[in-house]
Amino acid sequence: MKLTYFGHSAFQIETDGATLLFDPFISDNPHTEGVVSAEDLNPDYIFLTHAHADHWGDTLSIAKRTGAQLVGNFEIVTYAQNEGIENAQPMNTGGAWDFPFGRVFQTYARHSSSFPDGTYGGNPNGYILHLEGQCIYNLGDTSPFAEMAWYGEDHDIDLALMPVGDCFTMNAEGAVRAAGMLNPTQVVPVHYDTFPFIEIDMEACQQTFEDAGFNLTPLTPGSTLAL
Ligand code: NI
Ligand code: MN
Repeated sequence: MKLTYFGHSAFQIETDGATLLFDPFISDNPHTEGVVSAEDLNPDYIFLTHAHADHWGDTLSIAKRTGAQLVGNFEIVTYAQNEGIENAQPMNTGGAWDFPFGRVFQTYARHSSSFPDGTYGGNPNGYILHLEGQCIYNLGDTSPFAEMAWYGEDHDIDLALMPVGDCFTMNAEGAVRAAGMLNPTQVVPVHYDTFPFIEIDMEACQQTFEDAGFNLTPLTPGSTLAL
C-alpha cells in the first residue's frame, strides 16, 4: 500500500485492489504544476471531505472520465448525481460502510461546506479507513474537537493526515492537541502553503510536533509514502 501526495489536501492511496483519491483539487492547485494533471489520475474511488472548491476541484471531470465511485455526504452525492454522476456512495457523520477494500467511518469535522456555486454542501467530514491491516485517518478541514478522544479510543491509528495551515483550519498547536487525543503513530501535514492565507513555517511546525513527542512527516507534492 502506498500514499501519494499532490499538495494541499489532495492525495491518493493505492491498495492491492483499489486506488482511492481524496479531495482532487488538481487543476487550480499550485502544488501540482509539473507533478500531476487531473487527466493522469485513474482512481476507483473519489472521497470528498467537503464541497469547498479547494477540495471538490476536479471531481466531476475525473469521475465522469473514469467512472470512479464518488463517496461523500448525502448533500455532496446528491449534487454530483444532479451533475450526471451515477456511481456514488452516500454516507453521513458517524456512519461506516464496508467497501471491497475495507471499512470506512465518516467522521465529524469542525468547519463549513458549500459548493463553488453557493449550494449547501452538508456537514464537513473526515474519514477513518481500515485497509490492509492499517488505520488511516484523514481529518479533513477542521479544528480540534473533544470527541477526537473517542476516535483515538476506538481506532488504533497508524497514520493521520492533519491540516496545519491555520486561518481556515487548525495550526500546528491545534494539530498537536488533536494528536494528543488520536495518538497516531505518524502524522502527515496537509492544507498549507497553497495560498498566502495558509503559508506557514514548516520547520517551526515540525518542531512543535517534535516537542510534543509526535512524528510529523511532511511530503513534497508528487512524493510517495510506503505504508
Ligand atoms: Ni474548506
Ligand atoms: Mn480547504
